[in-house]
Amino acid sequence: MASSCFIDLSGPTYCVVSGASHGIGRAIAVEISKLLGPKSLMLLLARNNDELAKTASLCQSDNVKVTYKSIDLGKASVNEMNNVLKNSLDGYKVTDFATSLIFHNVGSLGNLAIETSRMEDSDDLRQYYDLNVFKVISLNTQFLKIFEAIEDGIIIVNITSLCAIKPMSGMAYYCSGKAAREMYFKVLAEEKKNIRVLNYSPGPVETAMIDQVLDETVNDNLRDVFTSFKNQGTLLKPEMTAKKCMKVLQAGKFINGEHVDYFDDE
Ligand SMILES: NC(=O)c1ccc[n+]([C@@H]2O[C@H](COP(=O)([O-])OP(=O)(O)OC[C@H]3O[C@@H](n4cnc5c(N)ncnc54)[C@H](OP(=O)(O)O)[C@@H]3O)[C@@H](O)[C@H]2O)c1
Repeated sequence: MASSCFIDLSGPTYCVVSGASHGIGRAIAVEISKLLGPKSLMLLLARNNDELAKTASLCQSDNVKVTYKSIDLGKASVNEMNNVLKNSLDGYKVTDFATSLIFHNVGSLGNLAIETSRMEDSDDLRQYYDLNVFKVISLNTQFLKIFEAIEDGIIIVNITSLCAIKPMSGMAYYCSGKAAREMYFKVLAEEKKNIRVLNYSPGPVETAMIDQVLDETVNDNLRDVFTSFKNQGTLLKPEMTAKKCMKVLQAGKFINGEHVDYFDDE
């Protein structure tokens, strides 16, 4: 049974978006910035500083001050993550915010040039898991440590994928990473009933990731699936899925930790 607790973001809100330099992350940043109340603060994270600056300029408003930080989230230490979050507060106290919200959007595809039955390079796998699973957990923990003072106002959105719950040929790195990441957030949601946790699956979206699949995959089935997405014009625009994510989030009808897909009935 879904809970039906409307989520009110109209108070002063602190909001982090990882992977905010382009694609879905940029669209999420733009859409959430429209919903936040006066004296809100956003922190945008990714590596590309110029593109982060562009996203920031799209989000800035009378209500929302936006900061951004170029950071390699696959390599950042726990201390670096903690400092980036703390420094972004820029004179605000944690208790100045009614709500603190984080979108774990950062993600990568992994090695698409290796058949699943030939995977053996654990360093390569570890690098993938660092960015997509381990460091996501570390960043989330730093966020929780800093904001536990307003625990009743903490909201976590993990950008997941259908691939977390349904196997896709040629994407063993991606599917297994997304599954592990989603399950971590489900366990957290199970333990922390006062934190709202959403696993939002954005559907197939027209971003750099789609072209990367077509460029790099050695799996014919995967190439066929993504080619037909492109040829049939079925890919969603980042704005469409970001708006849907906001709708799901605000309606608050999801069970804590639930996987909600763009195409799920409302
Ligand atoms: N596109 C789809 O169809 C689709 C479907 C389901 C789920 N998703 C998920 O949605 C999320 C966003 O995907 P997208 O399609 O928008 O991908 P994208 O266009 O490739 O964007 C990925 C974002 O992550 C950032 N990033 C990548 N590596 C990073 C690193 N080492 N350190 C810091 N930031 C890093 C990128 O910024 P920099 O390069 O500037 O660092 C970029 O902002 C991902 O979690 C993805 O798995 C996408």
